[in-house]
Amino acid sequence: MSENIKENEIKMEIKTLRAQIRRHEYNYYVLDRPEISDAAYDALTRRLKDLEAARPELITADSPTQRVGGAVAPGFGAARHIAPLLSLANAFSPDDLAVFDARVRAALGGEPVEYVVEPKIDGLACSLIYENGALVRAATRGDGLTGENVTANIRAVRSVPLRLLEKENAPPLLDVRGEVYMPRGAFARLNTEKEDAGETGFANPRNAAAGSLRQLDPAVTAKRELGFFAYAAGAGARARHSDTLAMLARLGFKVSAGYKVVKNIEDAAALIADYAARRADLPFDIDGVVLKVNDAAQQRRLGATGKDPRWAIAYKFPAQEAQTRIRKIISRVGRTGVVTPAAELEPVKLSGSTVSRATLHNFDYVTQKDIREGDAVIIHKAGDIIPEVVRVLPDMRPLGALPYSPPESCPECESPIERREGEVAFYCSNQRCPALGREKIIHFVSRAAMDIEGVGPKLIGALIEAGLLKDAAGLYALKKDDISGLQRQGDKSAENVISSIEASKGRGLARLLFALGIRHVGEKAAKTLSRHFAAIERIFAAGEEEITALPDIGGKVAASLVSWRGIPANEELIEKLRAAGVELHDTSPAETKEVLKGRTFVFTGALENLTRGEAAALAEAAGGKTVSSVSKKTGYVVAGKDAGGKLEKARSLGVKILSEKEFLALIGK
Ligand code: IVH
Repeated sequence: MSENIKENEIKMEIKTLRAQIRRHEYNYYVLDRPEISDAAYDALTRRLKDLEAARPELITADSPTQRVGGAVAPGFGAARHIAPLLSLANAFSPDDLAVFDARVRAALGGEPVEYVVEPKIDGLACSLIYENGALVRAATRGDGLTGENVTANIRAVRSVPLRLLEKENAPPLLDVRGEVYMPRGAFARLNTEKEDAGETGFANPRNAAAGSLRQLDPAVTAKRELGFFAYAAGAGARARHSDTLAMLARLGFKVSAGYKVVKNIEDAAALIADYAARRADLPFDIDGVVLKVNDAAQQRRLGATGKDPRWAIAYKFPAQEAQTRIRKIISRVGRTGVVTPAAELEPVKLSGSTVSRATLHNFDYVTQKDIREGDAVIIHKAGDIIPEVVRVLPDMRPLGALPYSPPESCPECESPIERREGEVAFYCSNQRCPALGREKIIHFVSRAAMDIEGVGPKLIGALIEAGLLKDAAGLYALKKDDISGLQRQGDKSAENVISSIEASKGRGLARLLFALGIRHVGEKAAKTLSRHFAAIERIFAAGEEEITALPDIGGKVAASLVSWRGIPANEELIEKLRAAGVELHDTSPAETKEVLKGRTFVFTGALENLTRGEAAALAEAAGGKTVSSVSKKTGYVVAGKDAGGKLEKARSLGVKILSEKEFLALIGK
């Protein structure tokens, strides 16, 4: 009897603690209004952890102690969205807005229209699925139809409720759409940390948020101080968008701060101006304002063109600019031997980060804009990433500032620099310039290439200097002691470096091709080549014509590839990478493979774009199997025009039926 009483007491205490902790998390992370001290909050969490440790059978997935759990994942699985995640058309001026408004009103036959005005948060879109109040899945936007399953990582974002606050008032199926972002303060802290460790920081909070969410170890995501703003619902939305937002706020989400309902486009424009003025004061980056037709029935009538709904538009703010002064114009040698000028600046805040260097592109740019050392200049971030000097403020030029003249020798090895016929660029004339090797390795490890975390320019420089590293393949021969032997590298960090080098072996052909730094082979071309040829040997065996025939691959890319592979040192590099166990094959549709692994397909009826044979080959390439008759075990029936008995049978057995279009989307085509 007393055992039972004790049992109930423990259960009650656990329940109460969980409710209290949830409430405090909500106050702190969603409302930014903590009601208790950190110490008091920690004490509650500790007590709950102790109780759960003693009674592990009472742990539930939605307990606040279970945000970060499970093992490090080998990769992200694919997640098909319940309904597509749409994108937004852009407006850049009040005129664009007026055109949008006129279209909306015309399409609705002159009915009154209300708009909801919300900030456009600069992060990455995610869909969170709640079933009966519990978070069951989270996925990135991906191509809008299928994203990456990031459930374990989203659970580590503290402003995302693991269960809804008012479960009773929630729809049984709720698809919350919103933006994962990194507040500016967190971004600055993370970049300082990275730079202190000799790594390259993230270019902006958006990239930092994306990089932090896509960590294979959710414990890393948990440390990154990400936030989540809910801005819409797919399944579970209300009849008016403003009611959906109000519902989401009640259920425990952070909702686009200060959204407003307006009755005409003039009021919307006034709010936009207001946001533009307050933009710099917000604790997170916004890149514009979103306008949405409030009434869901009107939204449905307006529909969408392609990926953009006709009922919403994003008003994009112009890129942010800042004023500073050039301390010095320096030159650097890149991995292709090109010598480029850059400006060292008096540090200045720009779009959330401190900028102390900006690109000047090439020496012609410097001459044309008459950029001089000591000049006051306006900078901005090109593509929101690369700081660039936009223009000089001539009135503020210091007396005695001289026109700039390009260097005559290489800043690295002092060999003469030369200009090639028909090119803007200057090159170091020394084929063995030490900068080349170093910059190639720096590119190889970079985020878009092999993404080797913990290996940055400083470490690479030190390894080269110590004679431990000569080319990218040399990374794979490094031992822990090689690294810990260097200054500033502790044992633990050396271990991490070795394991991230090891992990990079499996990045696949597309990233490797890009990482090799072959001229003109950018990320996109590398992907196309990888997908088409699937193995490096085949790329090397292909003729120039065959390569040029690929979509989006021009003659320049093909010629550059062919000449690259003809150089013996490059061939050797590939062989060394192969010997080290680096993946030289295309592994890219791994996500779809996972989804379709072991799934059987039956094709029936006439398909529009594919023959049955082609469709079967595509299904198989994605890891599926094709069979000819429908049974309970069939994964999917793909039905074309005039499908008959097999379609009927699929319906009666409850087998999933796809159109040709849906099939293509499923396999990521
Ligand atoms: S609504 C059809 N609202 O902007 C509705 N999007 O450029 C589609 N975004 O992919 C999205 N803040 O990642 C919406 N308040 C907001 C937003 C927002 C940021 C992002 C979102 C979307 C992208 C489109």
